[in-house]
Amino acid sequence: MIHSIFDSHAHYDDEQFDEDREQLLGWVLQEKGVTGIINMGADLKSSQTTLELTRRYDYIFGGAGVHPECARDLPEDWLAQLQSILREPKIVAVGEIGLDYHWLDECPKDRQKEVFAAQLELAQKLAMPVVIHDREAHGDVLEFLQQYKPAGVVHCFSGSWETAREILKLGMYIGLGGVVTFKNARHAVEVAEKVPLERLLLETDAPYMAPVPYRGKRNDSSLIAFVAEKIGELRGIDPQAVLDITAENSRKLFGIA
Ligand code: NI
Repeated sequence: MIHSIFDSHAHYDDEQFDEDREQLLGWVLQEKGVTGIINMGADLKSSQTTLELTRRYDYIFGGAGVHPECARDLPEDWLAQLQSILREPKIVAVGEIGLDYHWLDECPKDRQKEVFAAQLELAQKLAMPVVIHDREAHGDVLEFLQQYKPAGVVHCFSGSWETAREILKLGMYIGLGGVVTFKNARHAVEVAEKVPLERLLLETDAPYMAPVPYRGKRNDSSLIAFVAEKIGELRGIDPQAVLDITAENSRKLFGIA
């Protein structure tokens, strides 16, 4: 029986959970061995909803931040609003924040960089870890991280092992999820084989990125068991050990007892 699944990155505020959120978060996930979840905000509204989820469920903690796709139209006082959410005790990270060059129509590069930098500064000021989103922007994201040197994790890591090494050199964690179970996930598999276990976090990005055999379906934190199984197989270790170590890593990074 699997236990101690810690999901370092999920979006249970997503409308795909509207129908059964209460059952899932109330008991279903815990019965399947989930002991901790970090729900991530992507804009001011979902950061606020994240805060409400953390108040409602003991084992749920939160990140608050503005995702690059949501960075275009922000109220003038967005940073002050964000800061007040970040001061709440169960909000444990600034995230998700970063750069996304896949959806440039949503927000131009310069604006993305401006909003990213402002949040890296805020994280520094509040001494909080960051949760980084990096899609097709590996070079620029790395430059920002090298400049600000935050504690934190690059979530749903999609870069090469060479990029992973640069992230690890900065003392940061690598977040892996369902992608490691996909066919042709060459980069993610190489990283899963080589990353030091004490620097690995597991995540879903639920409702997205469900692992095989649920690929394309709605993801939830219990399916991390399939990710742990794949990583255990790649490294020749017990999947439960992968779950235990990565849960401990999440608790350490996010300061959760
Ligand atoms: Ni996400």
